[in-house]
Amino acid sequence: MIFHIVGTRPNFMKLAPLHAELRSRKFDQKIIHTGQHYDDKMYEVFFKQLEIPTPDFNLGVGSLSHAHQTAEMMIRIEEVFNRERPDLLIVYGDVNSTMAGALVASKMGIKIAHVEAGLRSFDRRMPEEINRLVTDSISDIYFTPSIDANENLLKEGVDHSKIKLVGNIMIDSLVKCMPTIDASKKIIDLEKYILCTVHRPSNVDNDEKLLALINSLESISRKTGVVFPVHPRTKKRLELIGYNINKNKNLHFIEPVGYFEFIKLQKNAIAVITDSGGIQEETTFLGIPCLTLRENTERPITISQGTNMLIGFDYELLKNEIERILVSENIDSKVPEFWDGNTAERIVKELIN
Ligand code: UD1
Ligand code: UDP
Repeated sequence: MIFHIVGTRPNFMKLAPLHAELRSRKFDQKIIHTGQHYDDKMYEVFFKQLEIPTPDFNLGVGSLSHAHQTAEMMIRIEEVFNRERPDLLIVYGDVNSTMAGALVASKMGIKIAHVEAGLRSFDRRMPEEINRLVTDSISDIYFTPSIDANENLLKEGVDHSKIKLVGNIMIDSLVKCMPTIDASKKIIDLEKYILCTVHRPSNVDNDEKLLALINSLESISRKTGVVFPVHPRTKKRLELIGYNINKNKNLHFIEPVGYFEFIKLQKNAIAVITDSGGIQEETTFLGIPCLTLRENTERPITISQGTNMLIGFDYELLKNEIERILVSENIDSKVPEFWDGNTAERIVKELIN
């Protein structure tokens, strides 16, 4: 029996194609949702749109401090594993649910496959970097999205026979859903706009930084509309600093949107401003300029080959880059190797071997 553990929005786009591929080959599999994300707009909409079956186990852990959340997940995952005894656990990405699942499985002698292994920002202030390091130190099979990830794992002493360069599983969902996305309605009626998402603690958990970012978006919105689907962490922080999201009619704060709607928003945007991991990759695939509000990225191939640029916290640079993009025509980029919609198939071939 194969088990999958997921918990947050970006896990669901990674689970969907692999679950579907395994199902088509008649593997026995079960899904554990830790409940790290639980709002309809952060969870259910993705299961519906991506046609993922309802989780076999919903652990309902919810929002807690890092230690409490990880500990609760581990306790509840162990209870399930004690009853079910999986042969293989598949974990995705770099969130707390990923690390919690891997830790429990490793102590119980259950084999672990990590999808999206080997990415490194080399910045241990990021909780995700700790999750990546821990998960990759105890996994048994490493499915990597790009060659840089293989190099990181080899440097850390992982045996090369365990590392499989299979490509980017998120792009499988994108490729598969593209016809539906193209046929779906636009959710905002704007000719030209910049799309923005931010949710990293490094951008939103500090009052001054959050205000500086919002000021800069207000200033950009005087030139061109800005559409900003607000992550719940960011919503909470904006409320705490007393920011009125209806204040500026060119800066459109909206609720988080479904996957189809969000990809359509990306496809039609002039540029995307983000601190998301997955969105750096999707913009590279779609050929849309991406300005990343971070000092580093665990996805360097989106810079060396794709459309990504690191802005850090330099909001002057952000405004200048937006102005440059508004007048420039073409963007020189390519889609990295194996970001082609066939990653799930390559993973299953490796699992069978
Ligand atoms: C988590 C991941 C992050 C990932 C992001 C994707 C960790 C450490 N962080 O960050 O890597 O990029 O998900 O979106 O695993 N909340 C709700 N409703 C929900 C979920 C969260 O209101 O359905 C609010 C709660 O107030 C919560 C806050 O959002 O305290 C943060 O949620 P949490 O899952 O702890 O971290 P994220 O910032 O979402
Ligand atoms: N996304 C979405 N609706 C939104 C914002 C993002 O469907 O309102 C999708 C986006 O297309 C990508 C994934 O969510 O597939 C990225 O998740 P997120 O930015 O929350 O997490 P990260 O990738 O930073 O871990």
